[in-house]
Amino acid sequence: MPSSSRTAALRGRFVTFTGNPFTMPPEDALHVEEDGLILIENGKISHCGAYDALRAKVPEGVTVTHYPDSLISAGFIDTHVHYPQLPVIASWGEQLLEWLQQYVFPTEAKFSSPEFAQAIARAFLQELLRNGTTTAAVYCTVHPESVTAFFQESEKLGTRMIAGKVLMDRNAPDNLRDTAQQGFDESQKLIETWHNKGRQLYAITPRFAITSTPEQLECAGALFHSRDDLFMQTHLAENEDEIAFVKTLFPERSSYLDVYDKAGLVGPRAIFGHAIHMHEHDFQQCHDTHCTLAHCPTSNLFLGSGAFRLFDAVDPRRPVNVGLGTDIGAGTSFSLLSTMGEAYKVSLMAGKQRLHAIQAFWLATAGAAQALHLDDKIGTIAPGMEADLCVLDPAATSLLALRTKECASMADLLFVLMTLGDDRSVKATWVDGRPVYVRPEAV
Ligand code: GUN
Ligand code: ZN
Repeated sequence: MPSSSRTAALRGRFVTFTGNPFTMPPEDALHVEEDGLILIENGKISHCGAYDALRAKVPEGVTVTHYPDSLISAGFIDTHVHYPQLPVIASWGEQLLEWLQQYVFPTEAKFSSPEFAQAIARAFLQELLRNGTTTAAVYCTVHPESVTAFFQESEKLGTRMIAGKVLMDRNAPDNLRDTAQQGFDESQKLIETWHNKGRQLYAITPRFAITSTPEQLECAGALFHSRDDLFMQTHLAENEDEIAFVKTLFPERSSYLDVYDKAGLVGPRAIFGHAIHMHEHDFQQCHDTHCTLAHCPTSNLFLGSGAFRLFDAVDPRRPVNVGLGTDIGAGTSFSLLSTMGEAYKVSLMAGKQRLHAIQAFWLATAGAAQALHLDDKIGTIAPGMEADLCVLDPAATSLLALRTKECASMADLLFVLMTLGDDRSVKATWVDGRPVYVRPEAV
C-alpha cells in the first residue's frame, strides 16, 4: 500500500496524450506504454515510462501496485455537472423549463440544510470516483451552505474540484432566489474561503440568463474579473423555448452569448454548458475569447434539447475549446465512458461526422484540462502532473471480455470501452497519489 506521504508506484499499460487528435492523425497524438511504470512522490508523478527502464527508481519500501490486463488513463474530467440534482436523475416526461420547475427547483430547495447537502455531496463524489472521474466543474445551489458542504467533502478526498454557488435573482421560486448584492457578497466570501484552498477552485455560477437580472450578471462579471484565475460557469443556447425567453428578457442584445459578453462573462475559464443552437458568429466569438463549451450528450438526448455540432465547434480554422459534461441530473450517466459513447452517436446524427475514439478520450482528459487551463496540473500522465488516474478493465463484463479480445488496435479497444463501458469498467481510481476507489471483486 502507498504510504501516507502519497508516494506510490503503479505498473501496467497506460495511455496519455502528447498532442491534439483533432489537429493531427489521432494515433499520433496518443502515447501507449505497453508495460509502464508510474512513480508518484507527494501526490505528483515523478517519473513515468517503460517498467524495465524505470524499475530501479522505485524507492525502497514502496510496493508496486500491479494492474495486469488493464488500461491506466489520466482521471476523467467532467466539465458540467450539478451535484444537487443527484436525487432527480431519471425524472420523466419534461423538457428543460418545465423539468426545472417540476423536479429541479423543489429538490434544490432542500440544500438549505447543511446535513442534507453534506450527505448528497458525499454520495455524489463517491459516484464520480466509481466512474473514474477525478475533476469536475460542479454547480451547487443558491445556498452558500451547499458550497461549503461540497468543498468540505472534496477536501477530505483530496480531489481537484471546481464549484460555485448558483446565482438566481428572478424567475425562480422565492426560497431559491438571492439578490444581486447578496449573491455578490456570498460568492465573494466563498471565493475567499475556498478558491485555491488545497485543490479546490471557485466558479462564479449565474445559472443562466433567464434567472439573473442584468444587474446580477454585472455583479457576476465583476466577481469573475476580481482575480485572474477564477472560473465562470453557466448555460447557453440549450433549448428553443429557453432561447426565445432570453430574447424577450434581453431584446437589446444581439445574441444569447452577447447577453453574457456584455456582462463581462465571456473569456478564458468561462464554461458554457450545452451551446447547441449556435450560429457561426457565436463559435467565432468563442474562439476569439478562448472560452469553453461543455458538450453534454446524454442530457441533450434525455431532455430532447438538440444535437451539439462538435465538429463545427472544433473546426481547425477557428477551434473552440470543448470538454464533455455529464450534466447530472438531466444527464443519465455519471460515466464519461458512456458520455463519450453518446457523443459519438450525436456527432453522427448532427452532421454525419465520426468522432474517433482517441478524440473522445482526449475530450475527457487532456482536452478538457486544456479547455479549463489546468493542463499544467491534470489530464495527462507525465512528470510533474498531479497523480489523478483511473484504471480501466477491458474485460469488466462477459460481453466486454469477448469483444475486447478481438481488438487489434488501441483505437478499437478505446472505442469498445466507450461504447460498452461504464462504471463497471473502472477497476480503481487514484486521486492525489492515493487509491480512493477500488472496485469490489465479484464473488
Ligand atoms: N439551464 C438552467 N439550469 C439548468 C439545469 O439545471 N440543467 C440543465 N440541463 N439546463 C439548465
Ligand atoms: Zn447544467
